[in-house]
Amino acid sequence: MIFESHAHYDDKQFDPDREELLSSMEEHGIERIINVGSDFASCKRTLELTEQYAFVYGALGIHPSDIADLKEETYEWLRENARLPKVVAIGEIGLDYYWEKDAEVQNRQRYWFCRQMELARELSLPVIIHSRDAAEDTMSLMKGIHSEQIPGVIHCFSYSPELAQEYVKMGYYIGIGGVVTFKNSKKLKETAASIPLERILLETDCPYLAPEPNRGKRNSSLNLPYVAKEIAALRGITEEEVIETTRENALRLFTKGR
Ligand code: NI
Repeated sequence: MIFESHAHYDDKQFDPDREELLSSMEEHGIERIINVGSDFASCKRTLELTEQYAFVYGALGIHPSDIADLKEETYEWLRENARLPKVVAIGEIGLDYYWEKDAEVQNRQRYWFCRQMELARELSLPVIIHSRDAAEDTMSLMKGIHSEQIPGVIHCFSYSPELAQEYVKMGYYIGIGGVVTFKNSKKLKETAASIPLERILLETDCPYLAPEPNRGKRNSSLNLPYVAKEIAALRGITEEEVIETTRENALRLFTKGR
């Protein structure tokens, strides 16, 4: 059975068939899903989904592109609600300099990334980190606050295999999704082949980033076998081994609700 470590089923792209789709997960081998909040509204929707579906767990956090949503009241709300039994992580949090070029806003992203990391530390929860075009700042900030003491995953990993190894040494997991099946994703294929299998998590980031052969369409957890198959081919192992090991990895990281 597959552990889907990063999905956004609160997204409006799922409005037409969310219930039908989520109800079909188990029969298609999807055992457990973490729905990840990105802005305040999606955090609230995430909690609703965890109440509606036994196999859906939640992560609460504000994405770097949505930090306009963050003030002390929101932060307090996160702190209170992250204590709920089905909230298993703080995320997604991090830095995104691809969409944000303004130095002042990037500065605020770093501030709120730090604060949310500290929240995870306080609540003893793992983190789900989003980092895009911000490799150096992410690493130096994480080292500065001793992130090796806070377990977590670098989701949708997009940097070099060498940097992936550095995160692995810090105890972090590497989230790999549909991008690994794209022909031009040479670095990610190298990463998927070279880091320990015990450090890889399967994820979709759905509705985004559908793998081949469904690239460009709306993504869902039902596409995860394509990701597992590609990782297996790159490593010369079976798809079953990838699915089983990544499931064990996720259960080891997300201990709450296990
Ligand atoms: Ni995401």
